[in-house]
Amino acid sequence: MWSQQYINSHHEVSWPPENSALIKSGQVRSVLDAGSGTCSLDVLLRKKGLMHLLHPFIQFGAWECSMGRICGERGASQLDWDFLKPMPFCDSCTFDLVHQARAFHEFKTDAGPLRLALDNFDKVLSCGGRISIEDLILHPPSQNWTEVALDWTHKMGYEFQWLVKKPETAHIWIIKRC
Ligand SMILES: C[S@@+](CC[C@H](N)C(=O)[O-])C[C@H]1O[C@@H](n2cnc3c(N)ncnc32)[C@H](O)[C@@H]1O
Repeated sequence: MWSQQYINSHHEVSWPPENSALIKSGQVRSVLDAGSGTCSLDVLLRKKGLMHLLHPFIQFGAWECSMGRICGERGASQLDWDFLKPMPFCDSCTFDLVHQARAFHEFKTDAGPLRLALDNFDKVLSCGGRISIEDLILHPPSQNWTEVALDWTHKMGYEFQWLVKKPETAHIWIIKRC
């Protein structure tokens, strides 16, 4: 059962002030939280008074039902979806910000799913929009997800920006150029 770090204050770490600033300035009006767990970001955005600025805020991805239940008890709802599958939105439905926190390290040594997830996020990302990723840094033989993301960004011709770069954790933006 999920009862500790992924329920409460975790997103104070995984959601940087730069993302909040984008919402406050009106640059970001729609957010997709891919891998939302217990809907901790939903709670944080409500606490910060930012949720009413988002149309829409959509979230998906709980490990299992106990996470989904916590989400429901918080008065939030999330889709049951897998970011390794194409996103279940209409062709013209895009988001200004696709956020992913703390799932990429789970892939350990396999870069394939990371690239697939980034491809799927890209398909629902607005021009000029951002993919925001925060996660733990793994060391060999596990892969460092930031290296995969950097390589993917260069191949796409997009812009890569470090928000946090520490030995144990990183937060990046990938900015879509159309
Ligand atoms: C460690 S939890 C973090 C949850 C939340 N992002 C947070 O920071 O509080 C990782 C989350 O990623 C989700 N996740 C992992 N792989 C996923 C996938 N392929 N599709 C959707 N969600 C996934 C899990 O269900 C879990 O909710």
